Amino acid sequence: MRLGVLTGGGDCPGLNAVIRAVVITGHVRYGDVTLGYLDGWRGVLEGRSRVLDPVASAGLLGMGGTILGTSRTNPFAQEDGPERVRASLAAERIDALVVIGGDDTLGVANRLSSMGVPAVGVPKTIDNDLSGTEVTFGFHTAVQTATEAIDRLGTTAESHHRVMVCEVMGRHAGWIATEAGIAGGAAEILVPEVPFDLEEVCAKLKARHERGQFFSILVVAEGALPADPALAESAGRARSGAAPDAFGHVRLGGIGDWLAGQLERRTGFEARSTTLGHIQRGGTPTAFDRVLATRFGVAAVDAVHDGDFGIMVALSAGAMVRIPLRDAVGHPKTVDLGLLEVAAPFLG
Ligand code: F6P
Repeated sequence: MRLGVLTGGGDCPGLNAVIRAVVITGHVRYGDVTLGYLDGWRGVLEGRSRVLDPVASAGLLGMGGTILGTSRTNPFAQEDGPERVRASLAAERIDALVVIGGDDTLGVANRLSSMGVPAVGVPKTIDNDLSGTEVTFGFHTAVQTATEAIDRLGTTAESHHRVMVCEVMGRHAGWIATEAGIAGGAAEILVPEVPFDLEEVCAKLKARHERGQFFSILVVAEGALPADPALAESAGRARSGAAPDAFGHVRLGGIGDWLAGQLERRTGFEARSTTLGHIQRGGTPTAFDRVLATRFGVAAVDAVHDGDFGIMVALSAGAMVRIPLRDAVGHPKTVDLGLLEVAAPFLG
């Protein structure tokens, strides 16, 4: 078979490990040739690809980023986009496309697959907000990076008796904030799923000081907002205001700075904020993510050879399964509130 593979959306540790697994499994197990499309759906639209060499792919396992490049190009936002995708795949005689991406990229794969394009999805995002899989690859690495950052913020916060706000990624869901907050022993975890009460946060900080805990780490997901509409509007204004991307997403970031300012003003405690930003997305994947990415890549090639298209490979109860792409996309997997309950005794 001639396989196509692409990586779309925000990059993520483990993308290259999936590419490696697809290329080598296809070659060794089935005698496939794999073409890598450059820069996500943009490369398919523009007919830009290159044959991936199984021998050269061997070194990709621990490499961060994606050797194929990525973009947030949406074929459905372009004139004749779906037809151009089909024509491009036909020109290269592609039998099946392995699409590695999050909700947007796999949403495109789902729509194309309902139009007859033979696609198999692989769930990627550091945010871990894709439905249908227990976990996406890249999330574990992001949590590890954020935890290390929180540990470091803790020592300087303690030295200066400060409140430290750590802003992490998480547009629709606060998975990174929750897990890194638990792992880093945060005093507060604020997530998009639970609009927060600023006065309550301030009261908890004051109570900590009264108990003799003179420093605090607050972890806030970029998508978190206060419950109070006026404060939410004020916090929203702290965002960059950049134009939305091709999928309609505004650029987030800024809640950490806004929050630190509010806390300092309202409590009188010195506060600082750190935005981890793309540091969470860069660098080498953890061993967990290398293994998960490899399992996903192998499972995707097996699905292709079973003729099982329009599906996403997923992790369920520790096993590799296949679920319909339509069940995975369009409704983010939000944080399990039970997990926040685990954090609860340690907050405040
Ligand atoms: O990959 C998802 C994500 O990490 C979101 O949490 C974040 O809002 C977005 O990517 C930022 O991506 P970029 O700045 O690369 O457009």
